[in-house]
Amino acid sequence: MSQELESKISDKSAVIGVIGLGYVGLPLINAFVKVGFRCLGFDVDQSKVDRLQAGESYIKHVPSEVVSSWISAEKFQSTSDLSRLSEPDVLLICVPTPLTDSRDPDLAYVESTAESISKTLRAGQLVVLESTTYPTTTREIMLPIFKRSGLICGDDYFLAYSPEREDPGNPDYSAEGIPKVVGGLDETSCQLAVQLYSQAIVKVIPVSSPEIAEACKILENTYRAVNIALVNELKVLFDRMGIDIWEVVDAAKTKPFGFQAFYPGPGLGGHCIPIDPFYLTWLARKQGLMTRFIELAGEVNSRMPEYVISQLTKFLNDEGKPVRGSKICLLGMAYKKDVDDPRESPSFELMELLLERGADLVYNDPHIHELPKMRHYDVPEMKSCELTEDLLSAQDCVLIATDHTAYDYNFIVKNSIFVLDTRNATKSVKVGREKIRKA
Ligand SMILES: NC(=O)c1ccc[n+]([C@@H]2O[C@H](COP(=O)([O-])OP(=O)(O)OC[C@H]3O[C@@H](n4cnc5c(N)ncnc54)[C@H](O)[C@@H]3O)[C@@H](O)[C@H]2O)c1
Repeated sequence: MSQELESKISDKSAVIGVIGLGYVGLPLINAFVKVGFRCLGFDVDQSKVDRLQAGESYIKHVPSEVVSSWISAEKFQSTSDLSRLSEPDVLLICVPTPLTDSRDPDLAYVESTAESISKTLRAGQLVVLESTTYPTTTREIMLPIFKRSGLICGDDYFLAYSPEREDPGNPDYSAEGIPKVVGGLDETSCQLAVQLYSQAIVKVIPVSSPEIAEACKILENTYRAVNIALVNELKVLFDRMGIDIWEVVDAAKTKPFGFQAFYPGPGLGGHCIPIDPFYLTWLARKQGLMTRFIELAGEVNSRMPEYVISQLTKFLNDEGKPVRGSKICLLGMAYKKDVDDPRESPSFELMELLLERGADLVYNDPHIHELPKMRHYDVPEMKSCELTEDLLSAQDCVLIATDHTAYDYNFIVKNSIFVLDTRNATKSVKVGREKIRKA
């Protein structure tokens, strides 16, 4: 079985099935199509399937021209018909792994995908889970579901875990340029997964088990969450002392070893950093252990939107203005610069806090033209307003929440009365600095 798959991977006749056509799935398809593989994309969201079939993308960093080029080269099809999961030789799973309302891991998408696969699993298929999850998921959740098919892992079919490390909006790294860690349930599974990714990805690092690969991804994201919490905590201290945290970090990063720069912000956002550390916390509780470091980081980071609003209230107060009735324009709803992804963005919490306090609020985001419905936030339907001189000068405060490159910060500062900058986005602005405060 493995030899047949090996030769299909090596001559690129293997069909790659990608399950979950989102921020991770689409760049992955691009990486495989670029080197000549044919991909079949699966998603339960029919509207996404239809748009892709029509050559239209819904993700900024995989433009529609790219999707139509896959289709015209006959290298891509999308479908919501999960009975076709038997067609591809390889299945790469990129479905969401969120938290439940009680902040425990929600593996419902992973489990339902595994259930669908087990109904059609056939000899010779390689299945790789790419979704971020806690160590043991592949062995203890996926494998038992696949066992029901009657097929034997390592003999009939092959199973591995390889975490996705996609960094949307980062022009320096696309899916194929980011080294990939791979852990197989057995040696053959690992070898096949390594062979597959090596065809499309710059470097592949085999590790001894799926648990190592799962833990590796969670370590990477927890490392970020903890270090961001550290600079956020120091921001509050240094702010009080009149010391600019951004200048401090920039100075510290001149040390050629032993220091990596992390920057403060208005809170954590995105699908990974605010969520993944809680997968580890949950796992530790199951083991009778506490992960105090991680919980503390979560606490510090989740207090940042409140801190920003307390600073904004203070600065407006200094001008004799209450938040109630003040005109405020929030810049940036995406969770980080240059992406169109609003998931877990702290901007929604900033918005909620401002609306609760009676602010007269508008927003602008060049990448998010209207506010999507958010599961955890109650914000009204709003459209991005145009950033004109008149609009800016009519605001009591312009609050920079996301430092998109598309913004002309000189123009923003020039035409605003007061700018609260949570990202140090205005660092190069020379004229009108007296109007800028950081928080
Ligand atoms: N977005 C990132 O930057 C990033 C980076 C690294 C890792 N990850 C991880 O990758 C995984 C996917 O994240 P994403 O950002 O691509 O999510 P996404 O929400 O953008 O895409 C997931 C897609 O899966 C589809 N889906 C859900 N259940 C399905 C099912 N049973 N069958 C088929 N399709 C199904 C959804 O409709 C959606 O289109 C998550 O585990 C995430 O933590 C994300």
